[in-house]
Amino acid sequence: MTRNFKRILVTGGAGFIGSHVVRLLVKNYPDYNIYNLDNLTYAGNLENLKDIENEINYNFLKADITNAELIDGLFDDYQFDAIIHLAAESHVDRSISDPLSFVKTNVIGTMNLLNSAKRIWQDDYSDKLFYHISTDEVYGTLGEKGLFTENTAYDPNSPYSASKASSDHFVRAYGETYGLPYIISNCSNNYGPNQFPEKLIPLFIHNIVEKKDLPVYGDGKYTRDWLYVIDHARSIDLILHEGSKKETYNIGGFNEWQNIDLIELLCKLMDEKLNREIGSSAKLINYVKDRPGHDKRYAIDASKLSRTLGWKPSVTFEEGLSKTIDWYLHNKKWLDHVVSGDYKEYYKKQYLE
Ligand code: NAD
Ligand code: DAU
Repeated sequence: MTRNFKRILVTGGAGFIGSHVVRLLVKNYPDYNIYNLDNLTYAGNLENLKDIENEINYNFLKADITNAELIDGLFDDYQFDAIIHLAAESHVDRSISDPLSFVKTNVIGTMNLLNSAKRIWQDDYSDKLFYHISTDEVYGTLGEKGLFTENTAYDPNSPYSASKASSDHFVRAYGETYGLPYIISNCSNNYGPNQFPEKLIPLFIHNIVEKKDLPVYGDGKYTRDWLYVIDHARSIDLILHEGSKKETYNIGGFNEWQNIDLIELLCKLMDEKLNREIGSSAKLINYVKDRPGHDKRYAIDASKLSRTLGWKPSVTFEEGLSKTIDWYLHNKKWLDHVVSGDYKEYYKKQYLE
């Protein structure tokens, strides 16, 4: 079954994943109107969408999802028929120093969107969809074996993952209690162009270019499951159109890496691309104190998505990582712009004090 929409609200569309989702929808669906709602926090950047900002089916709405009245008014004005909800505070380390702002945006902000959607849709829920974008971190941590499936019990360990778990529960509860049509997807770690350089891969690319230390948390033997951001955007497009309502889909690339192995590969590729002596970037590795509550291992079983909707990633990790490094090396201006005053302060606090 393929759905059609007229007016899709994408929240957080100026962020990393959101900007790739907005671009893909604007390009693939000229008959849809795409509304990018974003408050432009430190992580939101309209430069991410420069290439499509003048397309006639693209609209930008600057708004804060924690402002219930404002959000309600926008639903009245634009009568969205679908929501892809990505807006969030997304960085685990920031959630450790400021958990409340994660509750405000990730929980209250989601509640406001749910309330507005319910209010304008409740007379006729057919052809409407609240698609909530979540994370594998809600499942907590894995031991050496096993994968997160859609049936794994929630067990969040950081304020970030607790706030995302809470928002997932509210979405599901609105479905059960009020009949709100929803889908939730839980994805593993994304990497690719336009990611804010507080997250592992863009931070380390930036630091290698600048010949700065590479701060590896703890023993570096933590495992993450990496997916190219454009493959996440493709899966969101597929689930939006063909996913079953009231279902959860896990998204991942069956691509587990221990941090230190990934960092060593990144160092080697960067040495090659920067024409530096092989081994010189690895000398920047600096083991630092561990992240509190650090989840040992994430690994996603994405077989439901491939079995039921035929999805598969379009690039291998080696291709995706190489493309990603090239993008950051060719977009130095983008990197310089986002490394703003706020970010410098955060970096100083996080790594240098
Ligand atoms: P990001 O931090 O790059 O972008 C978040 C966007 O939300 C920014 O544009 C920001 O301006 C906007 N935003 C934040 N607070 C807002 C508010 N109060 N009102 C309106 N807009 C606001 O995040 P991302 O990495 O692109 O993640 C997007 C979503 O995907 C999040 O919900 C995250 O939990 C989820 N997710 C991320 C990953 C990942 O690896 N990055 C993996 C799985 C799921
Ligand atoms: O799994 C999905 C999640 O992936 C998303 O929900 C989050 O929004 C996203 O930020 C990401 O969370 P992680 O905490 O896994 O990503 P991060 O890039 O912060 O860290 C990846 C791993 O690298 C983790 O084990 C911590 C480690 N790390 C990270 C940083 C920033 C370091 O060793 N040093 C660092 O400086």
